[in-house]
Amino acid sequence: MKVVAVANQKGGIGKTTLTRHLAFHAIENGLRALVVDLDPQANLTKTMLHVAMRCSAGDELPDIDPASGAHLLFQTAVGLRPMQICPGVSLLAGTPELGDAITLPVEQIPKDAPTVLRELNDTFDFCFIDTPPTMSNLIFAGLVCADYVVMPCDIDEDATDGLTTLFHNINVTRQRWNPALQVLGVLPNKVNKRRNYDVENLKVLRDQLGDVVLGVELTERSATKLAKLQPVWKNPRGDSDRRAAAEMRAVCEAVFKRIGL
Ligand SMILES: Nc1ncnc2c1ncn2[C@@H]1O[C@H](COP(=O)(O)OP(=O)(O)OP(=O)(O)O)[C@@H](O)[C@H]1O
Ligand SMILES: [Mg+2]
Repeated sequence: MKVVAVANQKGGIGKTTLTRHLAFHAIENGLRALVVDLDPQANLTKTMLHVAMRCSAGDELPDIDPASGAHLLFQTAVGLRPMQICPGVSLLAGTPELGDAITLPVEQIPKDAPTVLRELNDTFDFCFIDTPPTMSNLIFAGLVCADYVVMPCDIDEDATDGLTTLFHNINVTRQRWNPALQVLGVLPNKVNKRRNYDVENLKVLRDQLGDVVLGVELTERSATKLAKLQPVWKNPRGDSDRRAAAEMRAVCEAVFKRIGL
């Protein structure tokens, strides 16, 4: 199982949107995907429950299986059982109990979470971990468990400041716990190419970080905003939808290519 963490301690920049689409892309390629929601806000979990309802053609949201709470990653003695959402995709759900992990001694995180997650190595081809927007044990847990980290970002003037903090924490993670962690890339999101401000800041970001920035980006589009229960590439209705679909496909393909697929 290859584990990809999606992280940036800045909020609202597309972590959950990207995580969801990477999972959709994986299952469409016949790969078995596990999505892990390490965010107590549980946005990913809520949409995955809707996907599960749709997939089973039911009219009630399923309950979260208690054995599938992502907080169980921090409890070695408990049997963890991902909840199946659809054939090909399962979930470790975001739960309020994840908040308790924030107060654990940071040294506890690398001891338990990767060991527990790696017990699922043979069950899934991919694991995509969504992380919360605050730097805490929960982001460290994602980084400690991962083979790769991908970082969506917006392109405000302070975007690189946020990324600098994240790169620092990635280095801390590598030095202390997970030397194999690879930076897969930075994904510029919500770009508006008609705005000079965006075009200039995107150029600055690419100049500063070079190949670390993926060669593709996501434009700010309503189709992308609304694509929560199904991928943006499903049933596009007009030109703008089709462009949104093509962009997201290109992003997923770029991520998979950097993993070597
Ligand atoms: N390219 C885009 N164009 C338009 N809307 C987008 C785009 N990417 C994400 N969004 C929307 O922006 C909002 C925030 O996105 P998302 O939830 O993926 O961010 P996040 O980084 O996970 O947020 P948080 O830090 O709160 O967890 C969502 O409503 C999402 O649909
Ligand atoms: Mg999120």
